[in-house]
Amino acid sequence: MGNEESTMVDDSTRPSVLEGRNMEAVVKYIKERDVKRIVVMVGAGISTSAGIPDFRSPDTGLYANLAFLDLEEPEDVFDIGFFRDNPKPFYALAHELYPGRYRPTVAHSFIKLLYDKGLLLKHFTQNIDCLERQAGLPGDMIVEAHGSFATQRCIECKTPYPDEEMQKKVQDGEVPHCTVPQCNGLVKPDIVFFGEALPPSFFESRDLPEQADLCIVMGTSLSVQPFASLPGFCRPGVPRVLINMQRVGGLGSRPDDVLILGDCDAGVRKFAKAMGWEEELEALWEETNPDPKAREAENEPVPSRDERLRQEVDRLAEDVERTLNMTDAYQQLVREKLGEPSESTAIKADSKEGEVSQEGLNHVFPHLARKSR
Ligand code: OAD
Ligand code: ZN
Repeated sequence: MGNEESTMVDDSTRPSVLEGRNMEAVVKYIKERDVKRIVVMVGAGISTSAGIPDFRSPDTGLYANLAFLDLEEPEDVFDIGFFRDNPKPFYALAHELYPGRYRPTVAHSFIKLLYDKGLLLKHFTQNIDCLERQAGLPGDMIVEAHGSFATQRCIECKTPYPDEEMQKKVQDGEVPHCTVPQCNGLVKPDIVFFGEALPPSFFESRDLPEQADLCIVMGTSLSVQPFASLPGFCRPGVPRVLINMQRVGGLGSRPDDVLILGDCDAGVRKFAKAMGWEEELEALWEETNPDPKAREAENEPVPSRDERLRQEVDRLAEDVERTLNMTDAYQQLVREKLGEPSESTAIKADSKEGEVSQEGLNHVFPHLARKSR
């Protein structure tokens, strides 16, 4: 990947298989070559329009907004070593991200549509939100490379933990412990943390990109290995379409790579339109709407995607704060500190929550920052 990354994109490079490096040429290729083995590879960017923040976007990404927890690196919230010492930040976040409260996006429905059309070979996701399943994609079509919230177990003796109990604990903002009395180990959803192996399903399906006749990569920075190497396994001459805010992972470096830069939902709508599937896609997406009446309020101004995401991140920060049981005195201290922007001393929260930097707090507690002004 490193080599591909450094290759300059030259859009004038003549494609070897496609007629042009654009969506229309991809659609022509699908129809004329009888394409039936599409691999899709996705990340958090396909869920942002549902209101779930991604990880690395500069302002709205989770990592930028987790700087306030006692984490040296925001990625620590998904670090198994850190979790053993302090599972609270993860459970504060789990409370927010737990499946069930978000609706699949048009991009999820587009993947379901590829499946319905018999064109999907496999869907590889890094997401833990289960929105692909919620969009109707069968479990055996999905490789959840970074696991999911669907199951959970004790990190010590590996005993599975009951789903309903888990749901309740997460809702109540509590840390679940092993049901085996003499163990009492920490329970963790079967999400792949940094430092943990990917699930067997990833390794079993790893050769599928090589068999694909088209690759679609959406909403991922392709910055976490080994997932990031998957698009590189597609054979030369197999078109790879990137639908993402920006160019990532060396996509664009091969002659038959097509870059559709921008919003995923807009990109898949464009794709569906070019395929003549426009109405089918919208109908399929409508099936995921839990409250069809909500859509009747079409005359009301709809907040932009960024506004909705910002609102969601603010709400998330407030809930995380609540879950971590900040004391009134501590909040007072935070407000005082936020009122002194020139001072950059870290605030000692308590021995368990560790040090909290002022900069991080401004980021995650915008409501406190506002109150302090
Ligand atoms: P990132 O946050 O790293 O990347 C998301 C990508 O999607 C970025 O390139 C965004 O610009 C883009 N994006 C965001 N919203 C978009 C939209 N509406 N339309 C188009 N593009 C959009 O998320 P991932 O690549 O999924 O792992 O991150 C990979 C892994 O890093 C995660 O699975 C997680 C994390 O640490 C673990 O926790 C193990
Ligand atoms: Zn146990």
